[in-house]
Amino acid sequence: MSRDIKIIGGSAHPQLARNICRHLGTELCPTRVVRFSNENLMVQIEENVREADVFVVQPSCPPVSDGIVELLITIDALRHASAARITAVLPYFPYARSDKKDRPRISISARLMADLLETAGADRVLTMDLHSPQVQGFFRIPADQLQAAPILCDYLTSHRDLSNHVLVASDVGESKEIGNYANRLNLPISIVDKRREGDDENAHATTLIGDVEGRVALIVDDEIASGGTLIEATRFVLENGAQSVEAVCVHPVLSGKAAARIAAAPISSLIVTDTLPIPSEKRIDKLQVESVAGLFAQAIHAIHHGESVSNLFR
Ligand code: R5P
Repeated sequence: MSRDIKIIGGSAHPQLARNICRHLGTELCPTRVVRFSNENLMVQIEENVREADVFVVQPSCPPVSDGIVELLITIDALRHASAARITAVLPYFPYARSDKKDRPRISISARLMADLLETAGADRVLTMDLHSPQVQGFFRIPADQLQAAPILCDYLTSHRDLSNHVLVASDVGESKEIGNYANRLNLPISIVDKRREGDDENAHATTLIGDVEGRVALIVDDEIASGGTLIEATRFVLENGAQSVEAVCVHPVLSGKAAARIAAAPISSLIVTDTLPIPSEKRIDKLQVESVAGLFAQAIHAIHHGESVSNLFR
């Protein structure tokens, strides 16, 4: 595409948007967000975007609803400002865990988010590690899903002796995804069978499939929200003879007291990405943050130039 490329950083994670721009050798396109006394939002694009190829970076993070509305209004503003193509860049996708109708009379909210983005005027979506594969099928517009596994595995291979590690999926849902890590790291896997009662944030581990005895258990999950799953998996693998525990996760949601709970738990390190902003009070000593900005910049460059993004999965 010979049109100008423009990157807009919404209020959710301006640092990630700036880092993406740095990799692309460009500046953020200026915008102004106004909150009126009635709490309505106004977004103004402060430079010409006519016929431009625009990427709006806005992962889902607190305040979640405000972030979604701001993104939709930004996309609508861009459409009315005659942008040629608008890509919603959502490194952490909103409501991704609401991906099925698993109880009566509930919304499949991730599907609703996909519909809203399209209705607002998004032409494409760029995201990372969706909670489940079916979410990608919720879009009728092109949706590219990047993977953090190459970045996290590169960190592990260059900073760890992995000769005594075993990968542990913290629940059965993660057991397929963990294959990505196992192939790259050439490690065996174990799976914790976790059960949750309704909306209870305390998951209960019931069975361990595989062997962790005497090994360093490297727990893998797509996201850590309350930390309940990780802490329960940690307890369970130690009870089953693991020597120690490390953890790796893509989306550090770290809601409520999760960071403090993980700080106090027998987990020696937690490696995450920056798909979401991590406030300073949640940056506990054992946390290592690897940036996805370079990978998103490469994907944006490829999309802009009409090139394949599949080679980014290596
Ligand atoms: C669940 O299916 C996910 O893979 C994560 O394990 C879950 O979202 C983590 O949530 P929490 O930290 O609240 O247990």
